[in-house]
Parts: sequence; structure tokens; C-alpha cells
Amino acid sequence: SNTPVITIDGPTASGKGTVASRVAQQLGWHVLDSGALYRLTALACEQNMIDSDEESAVAQQAQALDVHFSAGRSYLNQVDVTDALRQEHIGLLASKIAAYPAVREALLARQRAFQTGKGLVADGRDMGTVVFPNAPLKIFLVADVQSRAQRRYKQLIDKGISANLSDLLVDLQARDLRDTNRAVAPLKPAQDAYILDSSSLSIDETVNQVLQYWANAQ
Ligand code: C5P
Repeated sequence: SNTPVITIDGPTASGKGTVASRVAQQLGWHVLDSGALYRLTALACEQNMIDSDEESAVAQQAQALDVHFSAGRSYLNQVDVTDALRQEHIGLLASKIAAYPAVREALLARQRAFQTGKGLVADGRDMGTVVFPNAPLKIFLVADVQSRAQRRYKQLIDKGISANLSDLLVDLQARDLRDTNRAVAPLKPAQDAYILDSSSLSIDETVNQVLQYWANAQ
């Protein structure tokens, strides 16, 4: 595909999702929230009472997923599950099943199918390393764990979901540890990625930095 891709990878709650959708908006490009596919797989497993220890059963769910995305909402079997996906236990379950090679394999073509039209901004953990290795611009977005926990806390509270800051901190660290240490497609910057630390940047500043990198890449 000739469609350019900007990849934005990084740890949990580093602001990837928000930054990716703002950058896509600015450029008039499509956006792929790859984490949503892992969360949707986790939710489908939960709904169908699939044992998350059974790699092949989970991969089957990933393969058979009936999902679509529209106007920032995520649908599973035509039902809007956007809010259900944000639950902390779904995030944890997503990171467990994301370690299964068969699950990652099952979701690969689905992710690459988003590379159409004018351009794509893809966020996740392995966008720059595995899914879109030829992307002309790769960002690895980091932020210290304290600011990430605070952001996630605010996100949940704003959505009316109750949350506990110190629990969130523990969850974030557990998820990062698993994502970083798994054998397949671990969380790590691509060799040609720009490392961008957003700890002391606003969303606007972070978005502008990404757009600046893109302008310079032309
Ligand atoms: O980004 P988000 O928090 O929604 O992702 C949920 C989980 O899905 C992550 O903790 C990670 O384990 C997994 N994931 C992944 N590869 C991606 C995106 C998400 O392994 N590209």
C-alpha cells in the first residue's frame, strides 16, 4: 500500500490514543487503535466464557471477531462496547492474551487492512516494529509512571467509572512489565523511532511535536 502510516507506540496510558486521534484529525487521516482489538478479543472471551489460559480458543475468538469502529466508538456484534472496553480488568485480560502468538497472528491482517486512503495513524505497542515496519514516521511515546497513572485516573473518573490511583499505578506497572517482557512483539521502540517524552508536555504540545516530525519527514 502507498498509504503513509505514522506509528505511535508506547506504554499504557502514555497518551497514545488521544495523540493519535488528534494527529489523524489534523491530517485528515484514518486512525487505528490496535489496543481496542486486543480489548475486544478479551471482552469476547469474557462474554463467551472462554478460558483465557487456552491460547487456541482465545485465538479463535480473535479470528472470528465481529467488530467495527465508527465515530470513535467500538462495536462488538453490532453492540456499542466502547465503555466496557475501558474497564481495567479488560485491559489486564487484553495484556494477558496479547502475549499469545496465535492471537497476535489472528489480528495482524485486520490491523493492516486499516492502511487505506490518504493516511493512517496507528497506535499500540508493536505498530512500528511488527505491523507497519515500513512506516515513514515512528514515534515511541513515553511518560513517567506517575503522570500516566494520574491521566488514566482522570480518564476513568471523567467517564463516571470509579477508580483508585494506587491500584491503577500497580496495574500499569504489571501491564508494562508483561508487555515489555513477552517473547513475541514486546513493547519496545523501533530502531528508527523518535522517543517522545510527554511527561511535561500538554496534549497540544505533543500533537504539535508529532506534526513537526511529519513535516520534517516530507
Ligand atoms: O493500548 P491499550 O491499553 O488499549 O492495550 C491493551 C493491551 O493490549 C496492552 O496492555 C497490550 O498488552 C495489548 N496490545 C498489544 N499490542 C498492541 C496494542 C495493545 O499487545 N499493538
